[in-house]
Amino acid sequence: MNFRPLLHPLLAFALACPLAAAPAPVSTDPTVVAACLAAIRTPAPPATPRINGTRVVGARPEKPFLYRIPTTGERPLRWSAGGLPRGLKLDPATGIIRGVTPAKQGTYTLRLRASNALGKTSAELDLVVGDTLALTPPMGWNNYNAFRLRISDSLIRAQADAMVSSGLADHGYAYVNVDDAWEGVRAADGTIQGNERFPDMPGLGAHLHSHGLKFGIYSSPGFETCGGFLGSLHYEEQDARAFASWGVDYLKYDWCSYIIDAGRLAADRHAELLPAHADRLRSLAAEYGPMRNDRRRPRPPEMSARMKEIETEQKEILSAIPGETLAAIERDIAIDAYGAMGRALRASGRDVVYSLCSYGFARVWEWGPEVGANLWRTTQDITPRWAPILSIINRQKGLEKWAGPGRWNDPDMLEIGNGQLTPDEMHMQMTQWCILAAPLLLGNDLTKLDPLVLSILTNDEVIAVNQDRLGRQGWLLRQTDAAGLYVKPLSGERWAVAFFNRGETPLEISFDPAELKLPASTAARDLWRHRDLPASPKITFTVAPHGAELVSLTSPAPSP
Ligand code: GAL
Repeated sequence: MNFRPLLHPLLAFALACPLAAAPAPVSTDPTVVAACLAAIRTPAPPATPRINGTRVVGARPEKPFLYRIPTTGERPLRWSAGGLPRGLKLDPATGIIRGVTPAKQGTYTLRLRASNALGKTSAELDLVVGDTLALTPPMGWNNYNAFRLRISDSLIRAQADAMVSSGLADHGYAYVNVDDAWEGVRAADGTIQGNERFPDMPGLGAHLHSHGLKFGIYSSPGFETCGGFLGSLHYEEQDARAFASWGVDYLKYDWCSYIIDAGRLAADRHAELLPAHADRLRSLAAEYGPMRNDRRRPRPPEMSARMKEIETEQKEILSAIPGETLAAIERDIAIDAYGAMGRALRASGRDVVYSLCSYGFARVWEWGPEVGANLWRTTQDITPRWAPILSIINRQKGLEKWAGPGRWNDPDMLEIGNGQLTPDEMHMQMTQWCILAAPLLLGNDLTKLDPLVLSILTNDEVIAVNQDRLGRQGWLLRQTDAAGLYVKPLSGERWAVAFFNRGETPLEISFDPAELKLPASTAARDLWRHRDLPASPKITFTVAPHGAELVSLTSPAPSP
């Protein structure tokens, strides 16, 4: 397998690839390095130009627009585009389209072209000017998995620069999402400001945009974020306007401290259900408020302990409400909180992709679109270990019917490259996130990519399953013991099929296209290795423990 372009200039880095499920230190041991390289399945992209990424982009009328055409191939490249509506311009030397979307709604088909010394290529991109953003799952990066709350303007800029210099941006990764810990205090007029580590939010936005990348940010519907920073409660419109003025393109809005406000609201709105407890809920919220507003960090231990007690007591009181009624109350409160920011973003003058983070609270997938959300977390925080990732995967079952263009279930960010998953587990997470049409938000340090990690994150045929314009989330077709088979319909009457081994020993897993009522002559392609599979009535893989394989199926065209 030829992976030379991937190795250059990355061979200079120590490889971080672990070979067992246990955490492994960064290694320069030649046998570890050789094993990492041997685990690479993705062929290197050709030196001739190739346009990657989505084939459909959604935008609202008369809004600022930015799109970096993801293109692999030897540099320098030149780009051109036919069919660009007035108001949009392409820079032929960078492949970045900027401007303002047209007033008239409709689909504008752009004919994108790229060329270099070795050849040229073209691809069509539909710009759908209407009401829906994120027509395919958002692709980008978020700092939280790798850096938690230890972030700064310079760290984010370095990650964005690495997204471009590593070539990740050439495969469609575009959002650079700043998670919790950027927030400072409000100015006298209430305007939210970055803290001392984020002194220039508009400057940060401009830096990301200069690369053609998108700017993501984080806040909470509560007074306080999960990390104890300022949230947007009562400042929704003002914050949305501030974000828009900084050039923000994406907001992650995290439930966290709103839980206590939810208790108070439940008491205010549904006192009849809580006759014995409504006053207690109000007084708990009143006692909690000043502690939450106390800016001392770390919090005095007795204060933290009391806050925990209050949260527990509230939970106990609310759990006395019958299940369905409580679910309705929670839903009502969540729609209220998330709807306020949804409306504010709509009025902000920018297209802002809206991501809810509420860990599946109140069956968010049922009402997310109603509050203007484009994606919503379905489960608790991910960690870079097999068991929690498997549990997250299991909990996506049945949610496929709620997903579609502009509305995605979000099983949380990728943990590939965070040093704790084996090569097979990393291939498995990418396979699953692609078949589930999950947002592809990288969660690793982009300045420390090794060739194996880069190869897993940049397999364009695998990514194409995730970005397919039909926008269907795949589902578990059948499961026998450790073997799982997932299927996802693709545009052009094709299918993707994932073979998944959750067991501890290699497993032979077969699939017969007849299970999808496809003819025996269906053509199958191994998407990880970019190889057409030999014609055979069944597709069979020996799948590694904790591993996955991915194929596409194309039925023969009906005879005329
Ligand atoms: C959690 C959230 C994480 C991260 C963190 C920040 O609630 O699920 O993804 O955003 O808060 O404090």
